[in-house]
Amino acid sequence: MHLSRRLMLSLFGGVAVVSMVFTLYQAAAEMHAMRAEVERQALVLAESQQKAAELALEDGSGGGPQALASQFQNHEQMAGIAIYGANGQPLAMTPGLASRLESGVVGTPPAVARAVREGRVRGEFFRGRGVPMHILALPLSADGRRLGSIAVFHNVAFIAAPVLRHALTSVIQTLLIVGMTLLIVRWSLGKPLRHMAQWLHDLRIGDASASGQPPQEEIFPPLAREMKSLATSLHVARAAAEEEARLRNAASSQWTAERLRIAMQGKLNGSRLFAVSNREPYEHSRKGDRLAWSVPPSGLVTALEPVLRTSDGTWIAQATGDADKETADDFGRVRVPPDHPQYTLRRVWLSKEEQAGFYFGFANEGIWPLCHMAHTRPVFRSGDWEYYRSVNRKFAAVLLDEMSAEAEPMVLVQDYHFALLPRMIKERRPDARVAIFWHIPWPNAEAFGICPWQRDLLDGMLGADLVGFHIQAHCNNFLETVDRALESRIDWEHFAVNRYDRLTTVRPFPISVASNGNGEGATSADADASAAERAALYRDLGGKPLFIGLGVDRLDYTKGIPERLRGVERLFDLYPGYREKFTFVQIGAPSRTHIRRYRDLISEVEDEAERINRRFRAGAWRPIVCLNRHHSHAEIQPYYREADACLVTSLDDGMNLVAKEYIAARRDGQGALILSRFTGASHELADALIVNPYDTDELAQAIHTALTMAPAERNARMQRMRAVVQENNVYRWAGNLIGELATVRLAGPTQDTRHSRRDAPVPTW
Ligand code: F6P
Repeated sequence: MHLSRRLMLSLFGGVAVVSMVFTLYQAAAEMHAMRAEVERQALVLAESQQKAAELALEDGSGGGPQALASQFQNHEQMAGIAIYGANGQPLAMTPGLASRLESGVVGTPPAVARAVREGRVRGEFFRGRGVPMHILALPLSADGRRLGSIAVFHNVAFIAAPVLRHALTSVIQTLLIVGMTLLIVRWSLGKPLRHMAQWLHDLRIGDASASGQPPQEEIFPPLAREMKSLATSLHVARAAAEEEARLRNAASSQWTAERLRIAMQGKLNGSRLFAVSNREPYEHSRKGDRLAWSVPPSGLVTALEPVLRTSDGTWIAQATGDADKETADDFGRVRVPPDHPQYTLRRVWLSKEEQAGFYFGFANEGIWPLCHMAHTRPVFRSGDWEYYRSVNRKFAAVLLDEMSAEAEPMVLVQDYHFALLPRMIKERRPDARVAIFWHIPWPNAEAFGICPWQRDLLDGMLGADLVGFHIQAHCNNFLETVDRALESRIDWEHFAVNRYDRLTTVRPFPISVASNGNGEGATSADADASAAERAALYRDLGGKPLFIGLGVDRLDYTKGIPERLRGVERLFDLYPGYREKFTFVQIGAPSRTHIRRYRDLISEVEDEAERINRRFRAGAWRPIVCLNRHHSHAEIQPYYREADACLVTSLDDGMNLVAKEYIAARRDGQGALILSRFTGASHELADALIVNPYDTDELAQAIHTALTMAPAERNARMQRMRAVVQENNVYRWAGNLIGELATVRLAGPTQDTRHSRRDAPVPTW
């Protein structure tokens, strides 16, 4: 109530002042125009009578002027005329005029005296017996002699009327505007504000109904957005605190964000954490006048983000957004996440040539197919290799700059883009603890051996104190590759490489997602799919089918997408009963499209989907729906929650986080996972339906099994997989990786120095 009274008073005052100023201005302008009109009319009249008056004065008879003056009686605003002699004395006056004038004016009015004296028209406004009047005096003459003056008098009381009229209008206007505004404020602001206040109150006292979406008030989108993030943060913080208390109570060993944060403080022991990857966690782009940001589709980003958030470290990555420059400082630094800054992103810009040679060329046409057994031949060009080296040097320089003030920093180098970086860093900063985590598979020694620069890559990686892979098999392949290619001693008992008197430990760290099963790490988007979300999803599908199958991938030839579609086709052949009942949704994010193989894959997927759709489509139903664009994490959640079966059919995959994201999203314990045996994830998720993606019949059978499985079994399998994902979550991955790195002894040679450098030295940077 206080607010509305104060609001009313200030509104009223503000509107009244503005309205008054305009009123005064209007009234003044109108008065000015009316006075000018009176002067004009008086002059016209005086001039029209000038000749007659001069003749009457020349006659000398008194009757002439008086007869003239007497003609102007009974005019409403014109009070009359008077004729004055050369000495300024009145000779004749319209009857009744004298009584309307002050005594001074009845004699010789000043305007008349001046007109006679100066021989020019003179006029003025004055008050005659309290009434506003105007006089205009015109000199009279004959043959150069001054005979006197004729004066026209007007009653100008009517000129004040507009001022009153305007004042009244202004008061009415003010009241109307204030009244209307208050009504509008009450209707459109008061109600939403009351809603929001109630929602915040419920949130504060922990009412579950307030933990989801804030009131959707269209006029306050920024406020609603902020409230939503506030609610999310509060919700996450509460869930984390409750979870911590629960785990402490149960003396559980489960990793959480909080546990990781505390563990990291201990392990880092005052030093800072630095991560390096090619892909940045946040891209800024310009959408018209607006700046937007997005998270690129990358398993690496999904996994590393919580680690950086809990450690407030620095993440060095390639700038890829068109508005990255304008959102970063002069050094390319920007605090992220943009809506809740918790760590620093240092962006590095690459030229077109560097991007072509380093990223598309050596990393993605060379190492990627080299490491994935997906039957796409690697291409090795010496020009690309040169760019690979120089971009590694560029990132090393930035990293060294970032950590120049830090003693014993911890460095997490990510992935196959930066195989040379560990050695470059370690040479300059022996006090740094360096790990490289390889997110993709490591093939057997023969397969890797076809790379002309395999020794340089291995030597670069062995600059690290710790080399991590997802599974033990990749560690074994790596050690065998090193054994074949480089002079070194492999310690198979401890899974370590001893080279140049330095020890590199090789360990599996199965990467994961942030799930702990209790909402931690979740956003409000993880809440149950709203009816609106579901409606939108089924609109995209052209109706609600009985069963939904789902695939979520970057459009990459290693993901086995055409094989998957052929498995779906086979299902309809083997079990025609699924026609018009089962829809397979393929969410595919276009990726690396500068490379021909990736463009070809997009066409292949589209063609396969089209061919299968042509075979089976009926009415509005299509067996396959391809949604080929990048979907955010939040956009994918409703699909995960609605899918009866999620198909992960990679031909070769380091881990595959889609499998784990799907499980984490199924809080209802429903849904089935069909998982390629060639993924790292299949080593942990024994309760998935494990398939060989090349076996089309097996795929079709697995889909059928998933859709017909007894609910109790489906639930039991999902619950067991959820327990695995919750236990082996990304906090454990990071905790183990950093814990292992923290044990590295920095100074001094390793125990075993028997092996000297027998192989040719690898060029340093
Ligand atoms: O997960 C493996 C990986 O290569 C990541 O390193 C990478 O971020 C992701 O796939 C996506 O690839 P890109 O960054 O080339 O789009």
